[in-house]
Amino acid sequence: MNKPFKEKVQQVDIPALGLRNYWYPAIARWRLGSRPKAVTLLGEKIVLFRDDGKVYALADRCSHRGAPLSMGKCLYRGSGTLSCPYHGWTFDGGTGKLVAKLMEGGESPLPARAAVKSYPIHEHAGFIWLFVGDMNPVPFPTDLPECIADDSKWFSISNWRTYKCNWRLVMDNLAHDQHAPFLHRESPELLFQPIFKHATRNSTELLEDGTGIGHHATHGVHVTHYEGLGPFPPPQEAWYRKLKPSGRGKDMDSTSAANAKFGLKFRHMNMLPSIALIGRPSGNFFTCRLVTPIDEETTILYNFNLFRRRGSIIALLNSLKWVFWSSWAHDWLFSDQDKVVVERIRPGPELLSKTDVGLTAWRWFMARNARRAEPEALSSEVVPQIVEH
Ligand code: FES
Repeated sequence: MNKPFKEKVQQVDIPALGLRNYWYPAIARWRLGSRPKAVTLLGEKIVLFRDDGKVYALADRCSHRGAPLSMGKCLYRGSGTLSCPYHGWTFDGGTGKLVAKLMEGGESPLPARAAVKSYPIHEHAGFIWLFVGDMNPVPFPTDLPECIADDSKWFSISNWRTYKCNWRLVMDNLAHDQHAPFLHRESPELLFQPIFKHATRNSTELLEDGTGIGHHATHGVHVTHYEGLGPFPPPQEAWYRKLKPSGRGKDMDSTSAANAKFGLKFRHMNMLPSIALIGRPSGNFFTCRLVTPIDEETTILYNFNLFRRRGSIIALLNSLKWVFWSSWAHDWLFSDQDKVVVERIRPGPELLSKTDVGLTAWRWFMARNARRAEPEALSSEVVPQIVEH
């Protein structure tokens, strides 16, 4: 699997508005109340509404004269319909069909072409998910890793952050590019640990089910001497790195519990459409980060902290640890170190290097394996060229 990644120059075609024909989280369930709610996903304006406990999603543009349906009302409770605020055209939430023109009488024609797009919906893990694309939806769990899909074995604590930049930059940040040991070296989580540089041996493999790739990184070094500069980390940062490596940067090799007990092979995986799954050597915890394109300049990063169910006491301890430590140290401070930089990246030509082996592999995999309704459906926009160091 490694050979194709070493092609001299790869120009990969990745749509600026995201990979279509996948399920994405649209909104936390609790945020949808009794009034319709406007959301945007992959550049599409969508209205969500709840009627009689059921959630519906329609294109947020009335086919009459374009008013936003999200300003409308469920006038007929229990019918699963939404009425436009302007002249009362009323649409079926399940099919998008026009079912009444409230200012024109019951005899007025209801042409089929007046239907608005309706979106397949699934509620799971505290979120409302939508299938955004141009084909019939795939079954909901198809695209999710087991630790999110199977809530009988895992539970999650989740949150989200809005990035003011294109989704590809956020996803690049979550591919395996070894920015973490450097960018986050002074975060509270890593502050006293050695800087683990594992640039010496990196490789990438296809996941067995073909949904993504897994990264290996071994033979790390903690200190390097640079001619004319001195050692890295420099003395002013080195003196306080007294802790032993935590295992955070270790591979899930045969010495890890994750491998021995659960057969897990990779600590860091990237999966379609835009998922980064990063685990711990115990195999009992993953952080799953799901990058959701909103429009070309806005992205929501959903962060699922996933704990293997091992009894109520351990669940309570895991939850307390998250509340009093991880939510602040990781989900807030650590992640914001990424956010501050990623939002300011200026896309353009890149000169990729040794740290980008995993990133290159991910872009290559994503461009070639993303689901598409038409084989030629990807945009012609080209991600900056990838050049071997
Ligand atoms: Fe919606 Fe007229 S614009 S009913």
